[in-house]
Amino acid sequence: MRQTAGAEVDLRKLDEREAPVMVTESPGPRSLETWAKETQYIGPGLSGSTLTSRLVLEEGYMSYLRDVDGNVYIDFSSGVVMTNPGHCHPKVVQALVKQTEKLMNVHDHAVPNRWALCKKLAEITPGRLKRTQLYSGGTETVEAAFRLAKSFTGGTEIVGFWNGFHGKSLGSMGVDGTGFSKGFGPLAPGYHRVPYPNAYRPVLGAPFKTDDYITFLDQYIDNCVVGKLAAVIAEPIQGAGGTVIPPDDFFPKLKALCERRECLLIIDEILTGFGRSGRMFAIEYSGIEPDILLMGKGMGCGFPVGALISRDEVIEAMPFAKPSGGSTSFGGNPMACAAALANIEALEEDGCIAHAAKVGAKMLERVSAMKDAHPLIGDVRGRGLLMTVELVKDRETKEQAKEEGKQVFLKMLNKGVLTITPAAKLRFAPPLCISETLMNKAIDIFDEALTEVETECGLR
Ligand SMILES: Cc1ncc(COP(=O)(O)O)c(C=O)c1O
Repeated sequence: MRQTAGAEVDLRKLDEREAPVMVTESPGPRSLETWAKETQYIGPGLSGSTLTSRLVLEEGYMSYLRDVDGNVYIDFSSGVVMTNPGHCHPKVVQALVKQTEKLMNVHDHAVPNRWALCKKLAEITPGRLKRTQLYSGGTETVEAAFRLAKSFTGGTEIVGFWNGFHGKSLGSMGVDGTGFSKGFGPLAPGYHRVPYPNAYRPVLGAPFKTDDYITFLDQYIDNCVVGKLAAVIAEPIQGAGGTVIPPDDFFPKLKALCERRECLLIIDEILTGFGRSGRMFAIEYSGIEPDILLMGKGMGCGFPVGALISRDEVIEAMPFAKPSGGSTSFGGNPMACAAALANIEALEEDGCIAHAAKVGAKMLERVSAMKDAHPLIGDVRGRGLLMTVELVKDRETKEQAKEEGKQVFLKMLNKGVLTITPAAKLRFAPPLCISETLMNKAIDIFDEALTEVETECGLR
């Protein structure tokens, strides 16, 4: 609803039938004023969502965000897929406040909640994964996983996938398949990228045949890997690449290939972990046990933390296991451990994961059904509360509707929904606590925004 500026809405008491609450155009005058001041001092290179929205956000609670003008949005971004149980979840806030008063950092000395966190991670991850090492974020965790895989196998080369994303450091850019690394070359030697199964944009013929693909991958390794292969790294569902979900038999067969080739399979759950997909970890859908599983983003409810988990014999490999070979200055600090532990407890106590599976399935059904009425929709992909709607100018050529996507993003924002990526691949990733009512309201707004853009483009 659009209100006149007045008393500030209490996010904790807001009746969801009233949400979103828009008191100005978005971005409003206060956002623009602060934005103009900040632009003089902050470096460039912020995300497309931030640069396009020019919002200045000051408060969040569960599924809501408020900007400095008092507009209250339904959040469809969770930061960038981070605040899984909800913004400023009371349990995580309390744990952080308590920990701040006690101890904030003692390098990698043991602290009581680190033990508790590592034990918990061993309990919630698949199979024999048991021993954790902690980091400050995703990319740092990816780099550590490469060091670990090289230590265990004695290999030097890594295979990643087209359209995959693992971070912005030199090693992780070596397996970047999104185009992010363009212009930052030369990349480190020893990194390879091969096609990922993509039903909407098949590059190796359709329908995708996993056995043929594995034959291709074997041949690729024979022809292109010149040293020993240390690992294959894959996202169980490609996140930044737009919620690309491989066929059910892909990971079991990829795991078998890795075993045959005596290299490790690293599963990057930095974006998909902690309930996002409707399971604690998305790889659970395949039934396989990775050699190394990576976590980040949704692990700390927005607090920076990352982790890898592996089995005993892998994580003890040298030189990863030598003193200081695995740790960092900030990795596993007591604050991060407090946030991560409370985050998992919040997800479990609130029943967020089953809820994400249920609300996500309804969202997918609803948006998929919108395809007939909306010529711009090319494809709808989702699992749990992770969804991408890919907009195309033409369903035959599949040319991406980039400008139209940006306009839909802006119109949704102005109507009170903040989503991710002002581009052809619109990504919806609300906090996992989102109610069905708020989800439906946000999808109503998406429907309206898309209709307006299609009308303006002469498509209806
Ligand atoms: C799958 C995946 N891996 C790694 C990263 C890098 O994480 P961070 O931005 O915390 O360095 C990301 C970030 O989007 C990601 O989606």
